[in-house]
Amino acid sequence: MDTKIVAIILFIVFLSILNFNVHGQTNNFIVNDFGAVADGKTDNSKAFVNAWKRACETDGGIVSVPLGTYFVREADFEGPCIGQTLFHIDGTLLASNDPMLDEDYWITFYKVDRLTVSGNGTFDGNGANSWANCGGIAKCNLPPTTLKINYVNNSYIQGLHFVNSKMFHLHIHESDNVNVNYVHILAPEDSPNTDGIHIGNSNDIKIFNAHIATGDDCISMGDGSTNINISSVWCGPGHGISIGSLGKYKVEEDVSGITVRNCTFNNTDNGLRIKTWAPSASSPVVSDVAFVDIDLINVRNPIIIDQYYCPSGSCGNEGESSVEIKRVKFVDVKGSSATETAVDVQCSKSKPCQDIEFIDLDIGYNGQPTNASCSNADDLFRGSDQVPSRCS
Ligand SMILES: *[C@@H]1O[C@H](CO)[C@@H](O)[C@H](O)[C@H]1NC(C)=O
Ligand SMILES: *[C@@H]1O[C@H](CO)[C@@H](O)[C@H](O)[C@H]1NC(C)=O
Ligand SMILES: *[C@@H]1O[C@H](CO)[C@@H](O)[C@H](O)[C@H]1NC(C)=O
Ligand SMILES: *[C@@H]1O[C@H](CO)[C@@H](O)[C@H](O)[C@H]1NC(C)=O
Ligand SMILES: *[C@@H]1O[C@H](CO)[C@@H](O)[C@H](O)[C@H]1NC(C)=O
Ligand SMILES: *[C@@H]1O[C@H](CO)[C@@H](O)[C@H](O)[C@H]1NC(C)=O
Repeated sequence: MDTKIVAIILFIVFLSILNFNVHGQTNNFIVNDFGAVADGKTDNSKAFVNAWKRACETDGGIVSVPLGTYFVREADFEGPCIGQTLFHIDGTLLASNDPMLDEDYWITFYKVDRLTVSGNGTFDGNGANSWANCGGIAKCNLPPTTLKINYVNNSYIQGLHFVNSKMFHLHIHESDNVNVNYVHILAPEDSPNTDGIHIGNSNDIKIFNAHIATGDDCISMGDGSTNINISSVWCGPGHGISIGSLGKYKVEEDVSGITVRNCTFNNTDNGLRIKTWAPSASSPVVSDVAFVDIDLINVRNPIIIDQYYCPSGSCGNEGESSVEIKRVKFVDVKGSSATETAVDVQCSKSKPCQDIEFIDLDIGYNGQPTNASCSNADDLFRGSDQVPSRCS
């Protein structure tokens, strides 16, 4: 071979090695290099935040959390960052077991564009003491949510595990275009308020291929949730996939463009639910909602619209809900109910539900057909041989 060509090839190889090193040195910030210790005891909050700061000010910066258990008391990862930022977790982030914490969130990402939080690692909320505490005390401060994604755009949460949160596991708030893929969420069936994923005031959120077993809603969508696409989620145990509760607060935004597709509910309290407070403090509109291709295994309330939501009888019977619900479709909802009433639609007298469609339902109870109970709803059952086939 021509020595010139050999020289050029060697030069190219040399350049690529150089580039790799520069890349390795400047882009990847390993938490241990910032003093983090994986002993499950040392508080690594500062080390994590310092690694984040360096990654955030580097275009394409990466924070790496290697295998091991890292105790983190509380951490806020704030932007804006220079470019795209990756937070890669192989290890476990362990929260405090203190039931009396005075913060709303354990880990927060705030004001970041093009963020990816990924890996096969775990957020361990260490929540058992908090559940017991709140269970025993009539009025206790709500303990912190595990992960808050706050004012974050064009981002991914991918492949992570969430276990035993003190409150919600993942809360997406004031964000736009966030994709949540292949997350696993696990907490005991009787742990209070441990919603899997809660979305509020956010647009264009996609949740695909999640496995959620918890003590409250698998996924809940609060006010201001728009264009939400949920697909291939396994839920159970838990309280199903819910819109609401709505109408509790004076200022609430509309909810619209919700699609829930190809999901399975196993032994859950509810399947598909919309709930609003009566009386309500605001009048948001819920519209254009589709639940499609849903499998039910022994679900207590497979389809439920409850406009008389008032937990622990705190509001009496003194008024109707002013939240409006319209254009909601239930298509291809199949399987078994744990009660005889598979469809329970109780709409507001002052704002009756409009355009509620049921298409190709097939829901049984102990091998018997189920029934549907409806009030104040403009409902339509389409398709032959569906069970239940009409409101009775
Ligand atoms: C996210 O998008 C919104 C709306 O487009 C914008 O106002 C906001 O500044 C963006 N936030 C970040 C962190 O880029
Ligand atoms: C991912 O994490 C889970 C649970 O922590 C573990 O069981 C599994 O082996 C891990 N997978 C890989 C490829 O490391
Ligand atoms: C939801 O995502 C699926 C899969 O990418 C896609 O086929 C579907 O069109 C999306 N639905 C909506 C309403 O965006
Ligand atoms: C439906 O969800 C299951 C997981 O529960 C997944 O294996 C399957 O690929 C999904 N099908 C479609 C068409 O998305
Ligand atoms: C459904 O959940 C029950 C208990 O909660 C469990 O025993 C059963 O294996 C689950 N079914 C499927 C198909 O995974
Ligand atoms: C549905 O079935 C239950 C149990 O048999 C019964 O109590 C209820 O009256 C029925 N509801 C309707 C609307 O038929």
